[in-house]
Amino acid sequence: MKVVVTGGAGFIGSHLVEELLAQHAKVHIIDNFSTGLHSNVPMNAVVHEVDINTHEAWQVIMREKPDIVFHLAAQAEVHRSMLEPKFDADVNISGTVNILDACHASSVKHIVFSSSSALYGNLQRSQLSEDDPIHPASYYGLSKWVGETYLRLFYELRGLSYTNLRYANVYGPRQTVKGEGCVVALIMQKLQSGETFNVHGNGEQTRDFVFVKDVVQANLSSVKLGKQQTLNIGTSNRTSINRLIELTEQIHGSKLPIVHASSRPGDIRHSCLDCTKARQQLKWTPKFNIFEGLTETYHYHITNKQ
Ligand SMILES: NC(=O)c1ccc[n+]([C@@H]2O[C@H](COP(=O)([O-])OP(=O)(O)OC[C@H]3O[C@@H](n4cnc5c(N)ncnc54)[C@H](O)[C@@H]3O)[C@@H](O)[C@H]2O)c1
Repeated sequence: MKVVVTGGAGFIGSHLVEELLAQHAKVHIIDNFSTGLHSNVPMNAVVHEVDINTHEAWQVIMREKPDIVFHLAAQAEVHRSMLEPKFDADVNISGTVNILDACHASSVKHIVFSSSSALYGNLQRSQLSEDDPIHPASYYGLSKWVGETYLRLFYELRGLSYTNLRYANVYGPRQTVKGEGCVVALIMQKLQSGETFNVHGNGEQTRDFVFVKDVVQANLSSVKLGKQQTLNIGTSNRTSINRLIELTEQIHGSKLPIVHASSRPGDIRHSCLDCTKARQQLKWTPKFNIFEGLTETYHYHITNKQ
Protein backbone atom coordinates (compact mmCIF):
# COMPACT_ATOMS: atom_id res chain seq x y z
CA MET A 1 0.00 0.00 0.00
CA LYS A 2 1.26 3.47 -0.91
CA VAL A 3 0.18 6.37 1.29
CA VAL A 4 0.69 10.11 1.54
CA VAL A 5 0.68 11.65 5.01
CA THR A 6 0.37 15.43 4.93
CA GLY A 7 1.83 16.89 8.11
CA GLY A 8 3.87 13.70 8.54
CA ALA A 9 6.73 15.60 10.20
CA GLY A 10 4.44 16.89 12.94
CA PHE A 11 3.47 15.45 16.31
CA ILE A 12 0.56 13.13 15.38
CA GLY A 13 1.66 12.67 11.75
CA SER A 14 5.09 11.31 12.69
CA HIS A 15 3.55 8.62 14.94
CA LEU A 16 1.22 7.65 12.10
CA VAL A 17 4.16 7.48 9.66
CA GLU A 18 6.09 5.25 12.06
CA GLU A 19 3.19 2.81 12.39
CA LEU A 20 2.51 2.76 8.63
CA LEU A 21 6.17 1.94 7.96
CA ALA A 22 6.02 -0.81 10.58
CA GLN A 23 3.11 -2.25 8.57
CA HIS A 24 5.30 -2.12 5.41
CA ALA A 25 3.44 0.71 3.64
CA LYS A 26 5.33 2.96 1.22
CA VAL A 27 5.07 6.34 2.92
CA HIS A 28 5.38 9.77 1.32
CA ILE A 29 5.19 12.88 3.50
CA ILE A 30 4.05 16.32 2.36
CA ASP A 31 5.15 18.90 4.92
CA ASN A 32 6.47 22.46 4.84
CA PHE A 33 8.16 22.07 8.25
CA SER A 34 6.45 25.16 9.63
CA THR A 35 5.96 23.33 12.95
CA GLY A 36 7.15 19.84 11.95
CA LEU A 37 10.72 18.67 12.50
CA HIS A 38 13.16 16.77 10.29
CA SER A 39 14.16 14.77 13.38
CA ASN A 40 10.55 13.44 13.62
CA VAL A 41 10.77 11.78 10.19
CA PRO A 42 11.81 8.10 10.08
CA MET A 43 14.51 7.22 7.53
CA ASN A 44 12.32 5.08 5.28
CA ALA A 45 9.75 7.77 4.57
CA VAL A 46 10.06 9.92 1.42
CA VAL A 47 9.79 13.62 2.23
CA HIS A 48 8.36 16.29 -0.09
CA GLU A 49 9.07 19.64 1.49
CA VAL A 50 6.18 21.63 0.04
CA ASP A 51 3.20 23.65 1.21
CA ILE A 52 -0.19 21.91 0.92
CA ASN A 53 -1.59 25.06 -0.66
CA THR A 54 0.65 24.92 -3.76
CA HIS A 55 0.63 23.35 -7.20
CA GLU A 56 3.78 21.41 -6.16
CA ALA A 57 1.80 19.57 -3.47
CA TRP A 58 -0.92 18.82 -6.02
CA GLN A 59 1.74 17.45 -8.39
CA VAL A 60 3.26 15.20 -5.70
CA ILE A 61 -0.08 13.44 -5.28
CA MET A 62 -0.61 13.26 -9.05
CA ARG A 63 2.84 11.78 -9.56
CA GLU A 64 2.89 9.33 -6.64
CA LYS A 65 -0.72 8.14 -7.06
CA PRO A 66 -1.13 6.93 -3.45
CA ASP A 67 -3.88 4.50 -2.51
CA ILE A 68 -4.66 6.39 0.71
CA VAL A 69 -4.07 9.97 1.92
CA PHE A 70 -4.01 10.92 5.61
CA HIS A 71 -4.48 14.69 5.72
CA LEU A 72 -3.03 16.11 8.94
CA ALA A 73 -1.15 19.21 7.77
CA ALA A 74 -2.80 22.26 9.26
CA GLN A 75 -2.47 25.53 11.05
CA ALA A 76 -3.21 23.81 14.38
CA GLU A 77 -3.10 26.70 16.87
CA VAL A 78 -6.46 27.95 18.15
CA HIS A 79 -4.81 31.09 19.52
CA ARG A 80 -3.11 31.93 16.20
CA SER A 81 -6.40 31.48 14.36
CA MET A 82 -7.91 34.22 16.54
CA LEU A 83 -5.08 36.60 15.61
CA GLU A 84 -4.72 35.58 11.94
CA PRO A 85 -8.04 34.18 10.65
CA LYS A 86 -7.00 34.62 7.01
CA PHE A 87 -3.80 32.63 7.46
CA ASP A 88 -5.81 29.92 9.25
CA ALA A 89 -8.30 29.77 6.37
CA ASP A 90 -5.54 29.76 3.72
CA VAL A 91 -3.93 26.66 5.24
CA ASN A 92 -6.90 24.79 6.69
CA ILE A 93 -9.50 25.55 4.02
CA SER A 94 -7.67 26.38 0.74
CA GLY A 95 -4.87 23.91 1.53
CA THR A 96 -7.41 21.16 2.24
CA VAL A 97 -9.32 21.87 -1.00
CA ASN A 98 -6.02 21.66 -2.93
CA ILE A 99 -5.26 18.24 -1.39
CA LEU A 100 -8.82 17.01 -2.05
CA ASP A 101 -8.66 18.18 -5.65
CA ALA A 102 -5.39 16.28 -6.17
CA CYS A 103 -6.84 13.18 -4.46
CA HIS A 104 -9.80 13.21 -6.82
CA ALA A 105 -7.65 13.85 -9.90
CA SER A 106 -5.30 10.97 -9.06
CA SER A 107 -8.11 8.54 -8.06
CA VAL A 108 -7.07 8.15 -4.40
CA LYS A 109 -9.18 5.38 -2.87
CA HIS A 110 -9.75 6.98 0.54
CA ILE A 111 -8.78 10.10 2.51
CA VAL A 112 -8.75 10.42 6.31
CA PHE A 113 -9.03 14.00 7.57
CA SER A 114 -7.79 15.16 10.98
CA SER A 115 -10.60 17.36 12.25
CA SER A 116 -11.16 18.68 15.74
CA SER A 117 -13.70 18.78 18.57
CA ALA A 118 -13.06 22.57 18.48
CA LEU A 119 -15.92 22.77 15.98
CA TYR A 120 -18.46 22.12 18.79
CA GLY A 121 -17.37 25.38 20.44
CA ASN A 122 -18.64 26.08 23.95
CA LEU A 123 -21.63 23.78 23.75
CA GLN A 124 -22.43 22.60 27.28
CA ARG A 125 -23.03 18.85 27.35
CA SER A 126 -21.57 16.20 29.63
CA GLN A 127 -20.43 14.50 26.41
CA LEU A 128 -20.53 15.82 22.87
CA SER A 129 -21.83 13.49 20.19
CA GLU A 130 -21.50 13.82 16.40
CA ASP A 131 -25.20 14.77 16.21
CA ASP A 132 -24.77 17.81 18.46
CA PRO A 133 -24.92 21.25 16.83
CA ILE A 134 -21.76 22.72 15.35
CA HIS A 135 -21.00 26.14 16.80
CA PRO A 136 -17.26 26.95 16.66
CA ALA A 137 -15.90 29.51 19.12
CA SER A 138 -12.65 29.99 17.17
CA TYR A 139 -11.69 30.48 13.51
CA TYR A 140 -9.73 27.23 13.83
CA GLY A 141 -12.90 25.34 14.80
CA LEU A 142 -14.66 26.97 11.87
CA SER A 143 -11.94 26.09 9.36
CA LYS A 144 -12.01 22.43 10.49
CA TRP A 145 -15.77 22.33 10.02
CA VAL A 146 -15.45 23.82 6.53
CA GLY A 147 -12.74 21.23 5.79
CA GLU A 148 -15.05 18.40 6.87
CA THR A 149 -17.85 19.79 4.73
CA TYR A 150 -15.54 19.87 1.69
CA LEU A 151 -14.73 16.19 2.28
CA ARG A 152 -18.41 15.32 2.38
CA LEU A 153 -19.07 17.29 -0.81
CA PHE A 154 -16.07 15.81 -2.64
CA TYR A 155 -17.65 12.44 -1.91
CA GLU A 156 -21.19 13.45 -2.89
CA LEU A 157 -20.19 15.32 -6.04
CA ARG A 158 -17.04 13.47 -7.13
CA GLY A 159 -17.08 10.12 -5.32
CA LEU A 160 -13.92 10.62 -3.20
CA SER A 161 -14.27 8.27 -0.21
CA TYR A 162 -13.49 9.88 3.18
CA THR A 163 -13.44 9.73 6.97
CA ASN A 164 -13.56 12.83 9.18
CA LEU A 165 -11.99 12.23 12.61
CA ARG A 166 -12.79 14.83 15.29
CA TYR A 167 -10.00 14.54 17.82
CA ALA A 168 -10.28 15.54 21.46
CA ASN A 169 -7.03 16.84 23.05
CA VAL A 170 -4.24 14.65 21.73
CA TYR A 171 -1.05 14.31 23.80
CA GLY A 172 2.09 12.19 23.80
CA PRO A 173 5.78 12.06 22.89
CA ARG A 174 7.03 14.66 20.34
CA GLN A 175 4.23 17.12 21.01
CA THR A 176 5.62 20.64 21.15
CA VAL A 177 4.27 23.64 22.98
CA LYS A 178 2.79 24.95 19.71
CA GLY A 179 -0.36 23.47 18.23
CA GLU A 180 -3.79 22.59 19.49
CA GLY A 181 -4.30 21.55 23.12
CA CYS A 182 -0.62 21.45 23.99
CA VAL A 183 -1.10 21.74 27.77
CA VAL A 184 0.57 18.37 28.51
CA ALA A 185 3.66 19.38 26.50
CA LEU A 186 3.74 22.71 28.34
CA ILE A 187 3.58 21.02 31.74
CA MET A 188 6.42 18.68 30.73
CA GLN A 189 8.51 21.62 29.52
CA LYS A 190 8.00 23.55 32.78
CA LEU A 191 8.80 20.45 34.86
CA GLN A 192 12.14 20.18 33.10
CA SER A 193 13.06 23.85 33.20
CA GLY A 194 11.78 24.40 36.75
CA GLU A 195 9.84 27.45 35.49
CA THR A 196 6.36 28.43 36.67
CA PHE A 197 3.37 26.99 34.80
CA ASN A 198 0.55 29.45 33.96
CA VAL A 199 -2.88 27.97 34.70
CA HIS A 200 -5.45 29.92 32.67
CA GLY A 201 -8.51 30.47 34.90
CA ASN A 202 -8.94 28.34 38.06
CA GLY A 203 -7.69 25.08 36.53
CA GLU A 204 -11.06 23.36 36.91
CA GLN A 205 -11.72 23.52 33.15
CA THR A 206 -11.78 19.96 31.79
CA ARG A 207 -10.61 18.26 28.63
CA ASP A 208 -10.78 14.79 27.12
CA PHE A 209 -7.10 13.79 26.72
CA VAL A 210 -6.46 11.03 24.19
CA PHE A 211 -3.04 9.43 23.74
CA VAL A 212 -1.40 9.83 20.32
CA LYS A 213 -0.97 6.07 19.72
CA ASP A 214 -4.73 5.60 20.12
CA VAL A 215 -5.31 8.36 17.54
CA VAL A 216 -2.97 6.54 15.13
CA GLN A 217 -5.04 3.36 15.49
CA ALA A 218 -8.24 5.30 14.78
CA ASN A 219 -6.66 6.60 11.54
CA LEU A 220 -5.67 3.10 10.47
CA SER A 221 -9.08 1.59 11.25
CA SER A 222 -10.75 4.38 9.26
CA VAL A 223 -9.29 3.11 5.99
CA LYS A 224 -11.27 -0.12 6.10
CA LEU A 225 -14.14 0.62 8.45
CA GLY A 226 -14.72 4.39 8.40
CA LYS A 227 -16.04 5.02 4.90
CA GLN A 228 -18.16 8.20 4.70
CA GLN A 229 -18.15 8.56 8.49
CA THR A 230 -17.60 11.54 10.77
CA LEU A 231 -16.41 10.28 14.16
CA ASN A 232 -15.35 11.62 17.54
CA ILE A 233 -11.99 10.32 18.74
CA GLY A 234 -11.40 10.70 22.48
CA THR A 235 -11.60 8.76 25.74
CA SER A 236 -14.99 10.05 26.97
CA ASN A 237 -13.28 10.91 30.28
CA ARG A 238 -12.94 14.43 31.67
CA THR A 239 -9.67 15.49 33.24
CA SER A 240 -9.23 18.95 34.76
CA ILE A 241 -5.99 20.89 34.33
CA ASN A 242 -5.54 20.69 38.13
CA ARG A 243 -5.83 16.88 37.99
CA LEU A 244 -3.36 16.75 35.10
CA ILE A 245 -0.86 18.71 37.19
CA GLU A 246 -1.44 16.40 40.17
CA LEU A 247 -0.85 13.25 38.08
CA THR A 248 2.28 14.67 36.48
CA GLU A 249 3.66 15.66 39.88
CA GLN A 250 3.00 12.09 41.06
CA ILE A 251 4.98 10.66 38.12
CA HIS A 252 7.77 13.23 38.52
CA GLY A 253 7.94 12.97 42.31
CA SER A 254 7.90 16.69 43.06
CA LYS A 255 5.72 19.81 42.83
CA LEU A 256 5.26 22.01 39.75
CA PRO A 257 5.31 25.75 40.57
CA ILE A 258 2.08 27.31 39.22
CA VAL A 259 0.53 30.76 38.87
CA HIS A 260 -3.04 31.59 37.83
CA ALA A 261 -3.53 33.77 34.74
CA SER A 262 -6.69 35.01 32.96
CA SER A 263 -8.61 32.81 30.50
CA ARG A 264 -7.85 33.30 26.78
CA PRO A 265 -10.30 34.22 23.97
CA GLY A 266 -11.49 31.13 22.08
CA ASP A 267 -10.74 28.82 25.04
CA ILE A 268 -13.43 26.26 25.80
CA ARG A 269 -14.49 25.58 29.42
CA HIS A 270 -15.38 21.88 29.29
CA SER A 271 -14.98 19.43 26.47
CA CYS A 272 -15.53 15.67 26.47
CA LEU A 273 -16.46 13.44 23.55
CA ASP A 274 -18.99 10.64 23.25
CA CYS A 275 -17.10 8.06 21.16
CA THR A 276 -19.81 5.40 20.87
CA LYS A 277 -19.90 5.79 17.09
CA ALA A 278 -16.13 5.23 16.67
CA ARG A 279 -16.37 2.18 18.94
CA GLN A 280 -19.14 0.73 16.80
CA GLN A 281 -17.95 1.73 13.32
CA LEU A 282 -14.17 1.45 13.67
CA LYS A 283 -14.15 -1.30 16.33
CA TRP A 284 -11.84 1.16 18.10
CA THR A 285 -11.38 1.91 21.78
CA PRO A 286 -8.55 3.86 23.37
CA LYS A 287 -6.03 1.50 24.99
CA PHE A 288 -4.13 4.04 27.11
CA ASN A 289 -5.57 5.60 30.26
CA ILE A 290 -4.37 9.07 31.25
CA PHE A 291 -1.82 7.79 33.78
CA GLU A 292 -0.24 5.37 31.27
CA GLY A 293 -0.15 7.98 28.51
CA LEU A 294 1.31 10.65 30.78
CA THR A 295 3.97 8.26 32.08
CA GLU A 296 5.09 7.42 28.51
CA THR A 297 5.10 11.11 27.61
CA TYR A 298 7.07 11.99 30.74
CA HIS A 299 9.75 9.37 29.99
CA TYR A 300 10.05 10.69 26.44
CA HIS A 301 10.67 14.21 27.75
CA ILE A 302 13.20 13.03 30.33
CA THR A 303 15.08 10.98 27.70
CA ASN A 304 15.05 13.80 25.14
CA LYS A 305 15.92 16.57 27.59
CA GLN A 306 17.49 19.56 25.77
N1 LIG B 1 -2.85 17.92 18.80
C1 LIG B 1 -4.15 17.95 19.06
O1 LIG B 1 -4.58 17.90 20.22
C2 LIG B 1 -5.15 18.00 17.94
C3 LIG B 1 -6.52 18.03 18.26
C4 LIG B 1 -7.45 18.08 17.24
C5 LIG B 1 -7.05 18.09 15.92
N2 LIG B 1 -5.72 18.10 15.63
C6 LIG B 1 -5.33 18.12 14.22
O2 LIG B 1 -4.41 17.06 13.97
C7 LIG B 1 -3.50 17.44 12.94
C8 LIG B 1 -2.06 17.26 13.40
O3 LIG B 1 -1.85 18.09 14.53
P1 LIG B 1 -0.50 18.07 15.38
O4 LIG B 1 -0.90 18.30 16.79
O5 LIG B 1 0.30 16.91 15.01
O6 LIG B 1 0.16 19.43 14.88
P2 LIG B 1 1.63 19.71 14.31
O7 LIG B 1 1.74 21.20 14.21
O8 LIG B 1 2.65 18.99 15.11
O9 LIG B 1 1.58 19.05 12.88
C9 LIG B 1 1.13 19.74 11.74
C10 LIG B 1 2.12 19.44 10.63
O10 LIG B 1 1.65 20.08 9.44
C11 LIG B 1 2.72 20.79 8.84
N3 LIG B 1 2.14 21.94 8.13
C12 LIG B 1 1.53 23.02 8.66
N4 LIG B 1 1.13 23.85 7.68
C13 LIG B 1 1.49 23.26 6.51
C14 LIG B 1 1.35 23.64 5.15
N5 LIG B 1 0.78 24.77 4.80
N6 LIG B 1 1.84 22.80 4.21
C15 LIG B 1 2.46 21.64 4.55
N7 LIG B 1 2.62 21.24 5.82
C16 LIG B 1 2.15 22.04 6.80
C17 LIG B 1 3.62 21.22 9.99
O11 LIG B 1 4.95 21.51 9.59
C18 LIG B 1 3.53 20.00 10.90
O12 LIG B 1 4.50 19.04 10.55
C19 LIG B 1 -3.85 18.89 12.59
O13 LIG B 1 -4.70 18.86 11.47
C20 LIG B 1 -4.59 19.38 13.81
O14 LIG B 1 -5.47 20.44 13.49
C21 LIG B 1 -4.76 18.05 16.61
